[in-house]
Amino acid sequence: MALPSAEARLADIERYRAQVLSSPLAQGISPEEVREHLAAVPAERFPCVTYAKRGPDPCIQPRGGFPTFEAQYRLTRQLDAAGADFIPLTIDSYTRHNQYETATQLLHRSEEEGKNYLNGYPLVSHGYQLTRQLYSGLKKPVSLRHGTPDARLLAEVAMASGIAEIEGGAICYCLPYSEGFPIDRSLLYWQYVDRVCAENSTKDRPVHRESFGPLTATLVPPAIVVAIEIIEALLSAEQGVTSFAVSFGQTGSVLQDIATASVLKKLVRYYLDQLGFGLVRTYLVYHQWMGQFPAQRERAAALIAGSAIVSSMVAADKVVVKTVDEALGVPRAEINAEACDTVAYVLRTFRSAGAVTSPLIEREAALIESESKSILDAIFALPGTAFWESIYRAFQIGYLDVPFAPHGDNANRLLSMRDANGSIRIGAPANVPISEADAELEAELLESREDRSGKTYRQMLSDIRVMV
Ligand code: 5AD
Repeated sequence: MALPSAEARLADIERYRAQVLSSPLAQGISPEEVREHLAAVPAERFPCVTYAKRGPDPCIQPRGGFPTFEAQYRLTRQLDAAGADFIPLTIDSYTRHNQYETATQLLHRSEEEGKNYLNGYPLVSHGYQLTRQLYSGLKKPVSLRHGTPDARLLAEVAMASGIAEIEGGAICYCLPYSEGFPIDRSLLYWQYVDRVCAENSTKDRPVHRESFGPLTATLVPPAIVVAIEIIEALLSAEQGVTSFAVSFGQTGSVLQDIATASVLKKLVRYYLDQLGFGLVRTYLVYHQWMGQFPAQRERAAALIAGSAIVSSMVAADKVVVKTVDEALGVPRAEINAEACDTVAYVLRTFRSAGAVTSPLIEREAALIESESKSILDAIFALPGTAFWESIYRAFQIGYLDVPFAPHGDNANRLLSMRDANGSIRIGAPANVPISEADAELEAELLESREDRSGKTYRQMLSDIRVMV
């Protein structure tokens, strides 16, 4: 049995950092100077300060990344002006996969031809000195959004640029994004990232970490999301991170969203407190629909507005917004700014009156809580000497199983479908260790669906395309 523990803190971080920072791409980065820079930027660049100041509505977070500095600069200012509370820095796919040379070549081509040959900002290629200039005078947190299993260099350059929110984690940025990146290596590389975040933190100005709960955004049962989010919060806490957001993606069922949010909030606190990490501040982030988006702009706009209301009903601290261009590709800056403005309008107009509940929501929450605890407690009970090893093992034996993850080490045996309410149900848990009673209730609820006689794959396809 290996419970999460502060003793798992990576020793010798200075030596590992010296290795990573010896890369020519990290030229000029000095840990002391980075700490000084972070101490000198406005306090509002730290998420905990922004969260503490927020009013009744969730903070608004768009995504956004363009290859060139000029385009990113314009986007940053446009999103700021449109009312985004967090400013994104979305990284291109080559950088995410550590292919820095290709990213640099395509950056140059983008600059020369005035066209975007990358789907995000190649932060490592641009470097921290230039990137600091993106944010001069900015009094909002910048959030690094990527999808990188080995984010050691990327996170170093980000923090050197004055970025105090790092999204991702060993599971959430590996399983959904990579077919072959070894999960154990991802776990160790993310220990490094968490440890450096902690090293760059002070008590009042902690570098903030956020996990990516939507995972594959494809019929992932809430209990799997809750378990993985809590595991990632614990892994970060082990390394000394003290400001952490768990998140989840809109499920497609309002009742399930409300239930998921309440369980996630409650259990992340419960496990952190229970395991000796009571000082970690926690927040909840809600992702607007991450699945296939309608191509018609009117429908996309309606979906964005509707899920803005849900973000308020679940009392999220932050909502990550989509744009009406979602089905088409990377959104133009104007469209992205418009999305922030629309969401701010909807949040203001339909302010939630407080906690929403009902017997159905309570039953759903009790089920998600019971399943999440069973999964977590089974993982804690695995034999071994380190928590991260238990997590690695949990994937090998299918205790954790993420539907539709492309990763070779994911069991892919759990079967999930929607019930009559549109809630995601576990049709077959395979090796995921939920209790028999919970599995029976899941099956019973699934039976509420009327078209049960059709072919399973057809039902699943229509479940996946539910918003289109
Ligand atoms: N700019 C804006 N949004 C982006 N996304 C991905 N890359 C960018 C970018 N460069 C958004 C899309 C995608 C989600 C994962 O992130 O909405 O679906």
